[in-house]
Amino acid sequence: MTVQLGDTVPDFEAETTDGPIRFYEWLDDSWAVLFSHPKDFTPVCTTELGAVAKLKPEFDRRGTKVIGLSVDPVSEHKEWAGDIEETQGAALNFPLIADPDRKIASLYGMIHPNASDTLTVRSVYVIGPDKKLKLTLTYPASTGRNFEEILRVIDSLQLTADHSVATPADWNRGQDVIIVPSVSDEEARDKFPGGWKTLKPYLRMVAEPTGNR
Ligand code: BEZ
Repeated sequence: MTVQLGDTVPDFEAETTDGPIRFYEWLDDSWAVLFSHPKDFTPVCTTELGAVAKLKPEFDRRGTKVIGLSVDPVSEHKEWAGDIEETQGAALNFPLIADPDRKIASLYGMIHPNASDTLTVRSVYVIGPDKKLKLTLTYPASTGRNFEEILRVIDSLQLTADHSVATPADWNRGQDVIIVPSVSDEEARDKFPGGWKTLKPYLRMVAEPTGNR
């Protein structure tokens, strides 16, 4: 099974490095990132978990919880945590799910049999407060992810959830955004009283809105 954009993500119970969780209870009404990695005690995964630990304050600033997953048991996750702190200079500061029977991996489609029929691929799921899937990414075992990009996407998802805008290619916070085509010029005058720039009737750029709606 795979989970697709807009789907309500499945609930599950799991053992983690922070103790047992029921996923929906752990999510509460927060934004969240669930990400899988192939295996403990592997080089790329070690750098990824260090990178996420260092960026944790940035996820916190966005009201976003993070949780990792691999098919190894909690005892191995805990032992590996020491290596992550030693080599990456950052201690694990978020939970890691143990999924040795691949129950959660199957539920979310984290095992891609033509890549590996036993290990989870590098999946990322960004989940909204409504428990719906807002973004998914899949990377192969050989390529570590760019977690700054995931923060950038969360900025876009949170902005576009609150305002009638979309974000252009390579957008970063503070840059101009696009008025969505479903908003007429008449409606736009009310929503964006500071005005906007029309490059084409379907391409209207406006300063990043602040506040709610
Ligand atoms: C790694 O994290 O380095 C890795 C994990 C599984 C297969 C290959 C590389």
